[in-house]
Amino acid sequence: NEIAIGIDLGGTNIKAGLVNGDGSIIHRLSLPTEAQKGPEALMDRLTEIISALQAYAGGLALKIRGVGIGSAGQINSEKDVVMGATANLPGWAGMRLSQLLQSRSGLPVAIDNDANAMAFGEAWVGAGRNWRDFVCVTLGTGVGGCLILGRRPYRGRDGFAGEFGHHVIEAGGISCNCGRIGCWEQYASVTALIRMVRERATPGLLATPKDVFNSAREGYGPALDLVDDYARYVAIGLANLIHTFNPQGIVIGGAVTEQGDFLFSRIRQMVARGLLPVYGEAAEPIPIVPAELGNDGGVVGAVAEYFI
Ligand code: BGC
Ligand code: NA
Ligand code: ZN
Repeated sequence: NEIAIGIDLGGTNIKAGLVNGDGSIIHRLSLPTEAQKGPEALMDRLTEIISALQAYAGGLALKIRGVGIGSAGQINSEKDVVMGATANLPGWAGMRLSQLLQSRSGLPVAIDNDANAMAFGEAWVGAGRNWRDFVCVTLGTGVGGCLILGRRPYRGRDGFAGEFGHHVIEAGGISCNCGRIGCWEQYASVTALIRMVRERATPGLLATPKDVFNSAREGYGPALDLVDDYARYVAIGLANLIHTFNPQGIVIGGAVTEQGDFLFSRIRQMVARGLLPVYGEAAEPIPIVPAELGNDGGVVGAVAEYFI
């Protein structure tokens, strides 16, 4: 029985697991990222996690094919280097993850962008398993993206394809962490949703997205308005992606997907209003569905390459 080690490296937590050839996780591990301690400390933490999982697999006499890591930022997997720094992982740009972790663990190590990894997982055993070409978007601290083409992430010339979160949707809009202005991420991320709640400072509107959704579900007007505005921003970006790729479907990941149809029905309706007339005449709308692997998507998808 062969397995692989999947790692989802986020700004807040590192999630890792031993993943089976059928995409199931047989053992999990999670540690805080503590990115502020710097890249060397983070490499040591990743080394620790890998060796703990190696020991666990050894105890079960399982053979490990390799390690897969999904990380935020622009990553050139071929050249093994993190190119674009992300605000959540200071000092991370320029790191050569595979080389170092490979020599420390004795295992092959592959790296990719976090949203690409998540999308690959959804293509392998998740919401996109019946589609050949689809678009994946993650709405979290940032907005990540990936185009799955022929059941695999499309990476582009340098590995940076799919940065949908930095599509500009508002000229002269809000400043983004990337140094530019008006990026979709500043309107469709959970971070943006929290900012919108604060800006409105309406009595009864509390600062967590969950609270906002709860009071919207109870019919509180200002909360409903906020959810509608948020869904509209999400929909603007999705309509752009549909016009660009005419995909078989769109898979959306991130914590807000917990809101289910309450949010998705709004998004679908607003996307439909924003599309070219041909889409209205089509027999079937382009499906917009939540990710199926939830929190595990990044871990599972990081190792898809070893099994597909
Ligand atoms: C980064 C992406 C990343 C996404 C989700 C964005 O700000 O540019 O590389 O995939 O956040 O973490
Ligand atoms: Na991506
Ligand atoms: Zn940006």
